[in-house]
Amino acid sequence: MVSLKVNGTAHTVDVDDDTPLLWVIRDNLGLTGTKFGCGVAQCGACTVFIDGQPLRSCVTPVSSVGASEITTIEGLAGKEADAVQAAWTARDVPQCGYCQSGQVMSAIALLKENRKPSDRDIDLAMNGNICRCATYVRIRAAIHDAARALEI
Ligand code: FES
Ligand code: FES
Repeated sequence: MVSLKVNGTAHTVDVDDDTPLLWVIRDNLGLTGTKFGCGVAQCGACTVFIDGQPLRSCVTPVSSVGASEITTIEGLAGKEADAVQAAWTARDVPQCGYCQSGQVMSAIALLKENRKPSDRDIDLAMNGNICRCATYVRIRAAIHDAARALEI
C-alpha cells in the first residue's frame, strides 16, 4: 500500500512501490487529464507538480513522492493557472489536445519563475514538451498573453 496526496486529498492505493506515479494518477485515482506519451521522460505529456515543481510522472515511482503535494491539471488553482488557462482558451491553442495538459503545467511553472519571459526563455522552458500537432507558435503567444495578464 502506498499513501499519497493529490490535489489536496489523501489517498492510499494498493500498488507496487515502483509503479509509475502516472499510472496511479490515471488508473487508481481516475484523474485522466494527465497523459501518457512516451513513458521515458521525453515528451512532457505526463507533467504534474510535486510541491509546485514540474515533474515527469511517467518515470517517477509512486513510493518516491512521500508526503509531497501532487498537483495535476484537474487541481490547478492560483493566478498563474488562471492566466494560462484563459490565454490558452483565447488563443485556441490545442489542436488534438493530447499534449496540452503537460504544456499548461510547464507554462505555469515558467511564469511562476519568470514573469516576463522572452521568446528564448519560453522556448527553453517548453523544450521538453513535445506537440505532434506543432502548436508551438500559439503556445508561445499564449504564454506572452498570460504574462501580460499577470502584470495587471
Ligand atoms: S509520458 Fe512522461 S515524458 Fe512522455
Ligand atoms: S495539440 Fe496535438 S499533440 Fe499537441
